[in-house]
Amino acid sequence: MLGNGPSGWSALCFLLLAAAVSFFGSALSMDETREHLLTKEKMMQLGGQLVLNIKEERANEKLMTLKVTEMKEAMKTLLFPPSMHFFRAKHLIDRSQVFNILRMMPKGAALHLHDIGIVTMDWLVRNVTYRPHCHICFTTKGIVQFRFAHPTPRTSEECPKWILLEDYRRRVQNVTDFDDSLLRNFTLVTQHPEVIYTDQNAVWSKFKTIFSTISGLIHYAPVFRDYVFQSMQEFYEDNVLYMEIRARLLPVYELSGEQHDIQWSVKGYQEVAEKFVETHPEFIGIKIIYSDHRSKDVTVIAGSIRTAMGLRTKFPTVVAGFDLVGREDTGHSLHYHNRALMIPAKDGVKLPYFFHAGETDWQGTSIDKNILDALMLNTTRIGHGFALNKHPALRAYSRKKDVPVEVCPISNQVLKLVSDLRNHPAATLMATGHPMVISSDDPAIFGAKGLSYDFYEVFMGIGGMKADLRTLKQLAINSIKYSSLLETEKNTFMAVWKKRWDKFIAHVATD
Ligand SMILES: *[C@@H]1O[C@H](CO)[C@@H](O)[C@H](O)[C@H]1NC(C)=O
Ligand SMILES: *[C@@H]1O[C@H](CO)[C@@H](O)[C@H](O)[C@H]1NC(C)=O
Ligand SMILES: *[C@@H]1O[C@H](CO)[C@@H](O)[C@H](O)[C@H]1NC(C)=O
Ligand SMILES: *[C@@H]1O[C@H](CO)[C@@H](O)[C@H](O)[C@H]1NC(C)=O
Ligand SMILES: [Zn+2]
Repeated sequence: MLGNGPSGWSALCFLLLAAAVSFFGSALSMDETREHLLTKEKMMQLGGQLVLNIKEERANEKLMTLKVTEMKEAMKTLLFPPSMHFFRAKHLIDRSQVFNILRMMPKGAALHLHDIGIVTMDWLVRNVTYRPHCHICFTTKGIVQFRFAHPTPRTSEECPKWILLEDYRRRVQNVTDFDDSLLRNFTLVTQHPEVIYTDQNAVWSKFKTIFSTISGLIHYAPVFRDYVFQSMQEFYEDNVLYMEIRARLLPVYELSGEQHDIQWSVKGYQEVAEKFVETHPEFIGIKIIYSDHRSKDVTVIAGSIRTAMGLRTKFPTVVAGFDLVGREDTGHSLHYHNRALMIPAKDGVKLPYFFHAGETDWQGTSIDKNILDALMLNTTRIGHGFALNKHPALRAYSRKKDVPVEVCPISNQVLKLVSDLRNHPAATLMATGHPMVISSDDPAIFGAKGLSYDFYEVFMGIGGMKADLRTLKQLAINSIKYSSLLETEKNTFMAVWKKRWDKFIAHVATD
């Protein structure tokens, strides 16, 4: 019955049970066995090993009272946000007192984010599209594109006509309606997700269209810098102090059409982050994980790997490593890219990997081997790892190597891997205390903001009634522990986080 795994809890449980057996000198009664099993599960779960101080215990009681009240209410009404699609659950989550506490909670770091999905789209519409020289084009394919230029952008077959947005707005009947329709085109949000997104292809297709639509806005140099700043602002306001961003580093352009190179973009991230830290002293900073699209040819990816190696040499404090992004099911497998991905090891260069892997429902396919190959390539973390539970050997291996999964529940639901988040596979991982962090992937595209909505889904839905303050504390600690900061930086971060945590606990305990 007792596993002989490497982790602390099994040893601890063994001692407990052994002590009990010798104390009673005979076999345990059913009640005793029941208690031992319950205790064992409690210690196994994520955060189960943490011991709370008196203040934390008091805060935990308050938090759990609210949580149990909300869950019991949901059991009556059957309106339980984690069981509903996020687009319809969001207004209920906004009213939740538990959510309010999660927003105040210092959450540590967000480690799985993408460059152009992290600032609320409202900001793009109400601020960016109102800047001078913004042009719009309705392409022949029916997609909307934007470009800042003076006098006008160059036309192409796809974009035969660019219209100055200022002029276009003057001609539309109702500007509010027009702006709302822009906003709709910038996110996946709809009141009828099941009808609009009949399958994964449908939702990924719109997802890709959004990236293409907003790309022209975000890659205009002045906007790019403001976007990076604004992204830190939104996460900072959500009590997140450090971010690791998967960045494609696509060319940033000027009004004249001049394009900057990839190093300019990295320097941009670095300078803006430094500026942000000056005015927000507790903010730790950002790092970027250079990423290319997994659907590209292996020879192209080999070039990207060399670029990543160069960037890491030139910007060792900014560039954390490399990842392959894009939909796994329709892209190339990691195994396909093996020749490219082995270049650093062959050259004796260290290039940390942060692979997306196992973001799939299809078991036993070549894509389903991505978690295996990510681990073989020494990945630092596993992006999503949604399929990890189907691979017990890989689960054990990743646990032994302390390679965490980056769980992004709202993303998984919106992109149709799972509908009721109580059924998210991370429930098992949480129950067994598997190394994990929580992140939000592309919150702006899902109509979310920052990190708190995903924390809510994890705390209420995936973790269920048993997840408590210990779980939350462990997740925050994990986000620091599994970041790619240096040990000394982690210690500084932990101290800053701890100070905020104590303040948060005092607030919850007394309020
Ligand atoms: C957009 O926001 C910036 C600050 O981030 C501000 O300086 C600028 O005036 C705003 N522009 C518009 C058009 O709202
Ligand atoms: C524009 O449409 C909104 C509703 O979509 C309406 O509330 C508003 O009054 C309209 N504005 C004008 C100027 O017609
Ligand atoms: C929104 O997207 C649709 C295509 O999905 C397009 O027909 C429409 O013109 C777009 N509207 C705006 C204001 O961008
Ligand atoms: C993975 O790590 C092992 C042990 O440090 C090393 O021998 C191996 O070369 C690494 N593999 C890759 C692909 O980096
Ligand atoms: Zn992702």
